[in-house]
Amino acid sequence: MVEVNAVTAYEVNDGIALITTDNPPVNALGALVRAGLVAALGMAMADAAVKAVVLSCRGRTFFAGADITEFGKPLQRPDLNEVIGALDALTKPVVAGIFGTALGGGLEVALGCHYRVAVGAARLGLPEVKLGLLPGAGGTQRLPRLIGPEAAVGLVVAGTPVPAKLALQHGLIDAIVDDAVAGAMEFARQVLADGAKMTRVRDREDKILPVRDNPAAFEAAAKAALKKLHGVEAPAACVESVRNAFMLPFEQGLKAERDLFVKLMMGDQSRAQRHIFFAEREAQKIPDMPAGLKPAPITNAVVIGGGTMGGGIAMCFANAGVPVTIVETSDEALAKGLERIKGTYQVSVDRGALTADAMAKRFALISGTADWNVISNTDIVIEAVFENLDLKKEIFGKLDRLAKPGTLLASNTSTLDVDAIGNATSRPEDVVGMHFFSPANVMKLLEIVRGEKSSHKSIATAIAAGKLMGKVPVVVGNCDGFVGNRMLARRTTENERLLLEGAKPQDVDAVVLGFGFPMGPYAMGDLAGLDVGWRIRQHRGVKAPVTDTLCEQGRFGQKTGAGYYIYEKGSRVPVPDPMVLELAAEKAAALGVKRRNIAEQEVFERMFYPMINEAARILEEGIAIRASDIDVVWVYGYGWPVWRGGPCFYADLVGPKVICAALDHYAEMTGDEGLRPAALLRELAATGGTFAAFKPAGKAAA
Ligand code: 3HC
Ligand code: NAI
Repeated sequence: MVEVNAVTAYEVNDGIALITTDNPPVNALGALVRAGLVAALGMAMADAAVKAVVLSCRGRTFFAGADITEFGKPLQRPDLNEVIGALDALTKPVVAGIFGTALGGGLEVALGCHYRVAVGAARLGLPEVKLGLLPGAGGTQRLPRLIGPEAAVGLVVAGTPVPAKLALQHGLIDAIVDDAVAGAMEFARQVLADGAKMTRVRDREDKILPVRDNPAAFEAAAKAALKKLHGVEAPAACVESVRNAFMLPFEQGLKAERDLFVKLMMGDQSRAQRHIFFAEREAQKIPDMPAGLKPAPITNAVVIGGGTMGGGIAMCFANAGVPVTIVETSDEALAKGLERIKGTYQVSVDRGALTADAMAKRFALISGTADWNVISNTDIVIEAVFENLDLKKEIFGKLDRLAKPGTLLASNTSTLDVDAIGNATSRPEDVVGMHFFSPANVMKLLEIVRGEKSSHKSIATAIAAGKLMGKVPVVVGNCDGFVGNRMLARRTTENERLLLEGAKPQDVDAVVLGFGFPMGPYAMGDLAGLDVGWRIRQHRGVKAPVTDTLCEQGRFGQKTGAGYYIYEKGSRVPVPDPMVLELAAEKAAALGVKRRNIAEQEVFERMFYPMINEAARILEEGIAIRASDIDVVWVYGYGWPVWRGGPCFYADLVGPKVICAALDHYAEMTGDEGLRPAALLRELAATGGTFAAFKPAGKAAA
């Protein structure tokens, strides 16, 4: 075996050269890898004894793509197109041996090979669109030639990898093998035995010529793929480039693809999406976590309370294959909870998203009881009873008495003091908040609330439990509303004020939708139920004159057929209601608030800047470990468009100085000193600093 460079090995067996890359953790195609590949391919080309080549990797996966950390920096040659060009130039058949994930540039390298084999568990795809990009190393030109432009456009725009079995059906791979390297070597031997036939993917025209003559089916597939993707640049670029595959000669298509790729890579949308990719992974890193500390294993779980959230959390465990028991107050409440879970699964089955068999298996993992003794043999308990501190304290006291040592005791509280809950036990180190978002079985965000006494082990176990359930965990400090709801409360205050000052719910919602959120704040309020906030305000003695009156009238939102909007029977479509405007005008008159036309820009600033201001306070207090964690919270929990990068990323784009000036203006206009810029925001504005560069220390970072 020859070491071509630090990450590339080369060996020849029976006339077949095996080139392997070993660049942990995911064999990203960084500069050294690319250089190694070009050198090794050159060796194979030069060696007359080599009749065929196998390309594969060591470690946990085939190439998972270009090295994203290199994007936006000066490119070191050879670039990926040059690597694939070297494959194209080879006059000996090349077989890619795929395992793990062949993604992005990784799949593009495989497409530069003459043959591809993969193990059954492998997944293949071009996920660049999820980074705000399109495949930039020939993926949009070669994939359509291999599997047809209609199938290719769907895969490239969705960016979702396909399993090996489906890849075989598409013609993306040539065989499924038991072992990537051994299988590829065997395949290469067979190719040689059959006369070493080899067609470069770039030269294939059988799938593209018919589409060039009749692109109707392609255009229909492209239109379907682009549905609901307003404002996002990458998907449209993906379509344009796949279209080029059958409209332009290969080299021209490749050049156009590269130009589109570079343009997107330099743009804010891709920068935002790459930021979130790394932010999500960074969020798992807790600065003071002792190295090597292992989370406790989770083999079973208990959820206390089988209502809206408890039911959803139980489904999360079952979906992850973990047996879970729901503890309820009565058999009746339990039956109701289990029925609701069954109904939710059934909707997925009816939609074709889940097989009946999978539903049965998952549902079988969920049991229920009113007998608390079940607590004594569980690894994790998540409490999701009514939002009442006394009740929660009582329950945690009971858990303390019943649970075995080391059981993680978590509360799904959305507003209560996690320290007070922890101190109701003799083991507050085992207590954390695990704040799921509704619907818990769908929403990816999980805020893990670190109490003053929560142990590292508890935090590590909560993170591991979240990941097991497919969530994106973010560790936050203990405070009112934690990170997400605390910021949201600022927006909600402005929503009430804007109504009084003369804004229409539909106009404000349109501004937020226009930014890229899936829903505006009033429509969102109607969906979540206006009564939730109303109860909290009543408890705290806070008033929201318009919304409180709507609630007093029984207008709780969608569930009662009316809230800020009206909903026709059985419909979820919000219909503006002039009565809400009259009510707002009446309340404004009583309070002496002057009504006026409010410009879109003002609405925009008041919807977003007070939240950004609160993010600054959260960072000052150390409630979030880093600004990018706040971005992750908003992208995964509140529908902040990923291509806008989250509130802190966005604030850096707008500039803290601009935001500070606007906040001072609104503080003066409304007389609300709470709108004054946070000290951190002022500091960033004064020094030209950014949220991204700010390093807080505090409660969550501890
Ligand atoms: N470049 C650089 N670093 C990468 C990377 C990449 N393409 N993919 C993963 N990493 C890093 C992660 O940041 C993480 O680093 P950390 O440990 O320091 O936090 C580490 O590798 C492990 O990643 P994960 O925690 O995500 O590991 P998983 O096993 O959970 O997932 C994976 C593996 C499915 C490969 C996942 O990492 C992934 O989806 N990666 C991105 C794949 C991708 O988008 N590829 C396309 C890139 S763009 C491209 O190829 C352009 C081309 O067309 C020119
Ligand atoms: P819910 O009212 O739908 O369910 C509460 C359930 O707890 C009921 O089924 C009730 O029978 C059960 N329960 C009450 N006392 C109990 C006891 N002593 N023992 C066992 N079960 C008991 O409430 P929901 O909405 O599920 O909220 C639960 C918790 O989750 C609250 O703390 C809430 O703040 C929090 N939360 C709610 C979110 C939401 O959007 N609904 C979002 C995030 C957190």
